[in-house]
Amino acid sequence: MNADPAPQPRILVLASGSGTNLQALIDASRERDFPGQIVAVGCNRPQAFALERAAQANIDTFIVNHQDYGSREEFDGALMAEIRRHNPDLVVLAGFMRILTTDFVRALRGTMLNIHPSLLPKYTGLNTHQRALEAGDKVHGVSIHFVTEELDGGPVIAQAEVTIDPDDTPESLAEKVQEKEHLLYPIVVRWFCEGRIHLGTDYVLFDGELLKQPMRLPDERVTH
Ligand code: GRF
Repeated sequence: MNADPAPQPRILVLASGSGTNLQALIDASRERDFPGQIVAVGCNRPQAFALERAAQANIDTFIVNHQDYGSREEFDGALMAEIRRHNPDLVVLAGFMRILTTDFVRALRGTMLNIHPSLLPKYTGLNTHQRALEAGDKVHGVSIHFVTEELDGGPVIAQAEVTIDPDDTPESLAEKVQEKEHLLYPIVVRWFCEGRIHLGTDYVLFDGELLKQPMRLPDERVTH
């Protein structure tokens, strides 16, 4: 008798906008050896192109429009109800532009990832590309971290760098960073699904060892 194969970890992606990171994850999840399945995509904006991408890929979608709720708590309650309905092992924030309440974040502790367009702890919050340029930085990049109560402050799992050139604008920099995002997020989601990364009290365990520095992609993986 053949035993049933172990069920793959269930991934739920939350997005607010164009969903290029979602697309990178969808593409990666189609690889034969990808160790997880994207079971649903949720958006807080009904016009988000991410919904279109999910529909194209035959993935279940849901909308919880923040404008329909009087408070953050009510919105988060409705969002959590939708999330629970899909019973995910991992929630992936991919350009999800809402600040989540402490209760919400605690309920998903250790099972929620975010991507942030800076080399954290630098430039939490918005306008990261502009701020890196104004500061005269020579390098910039992207971080993927576990979500904790502190906004953009959870332990960082992995980063990829880009070089800032003298003629870079916030737009050109955003483009360079996004290229790295699309490479890095599928790799980190894969690690999670393989059970290689875990959130400790305020640190990441990678293969059971304390991660002292965020993982960096070797150059050949991050440059074209
Ligand atoms: C990304 O740049 C991500 O770092 C930030 O929001 C953007 C989302 O882009 N948090 P997309 O919707 O995945 O194209």
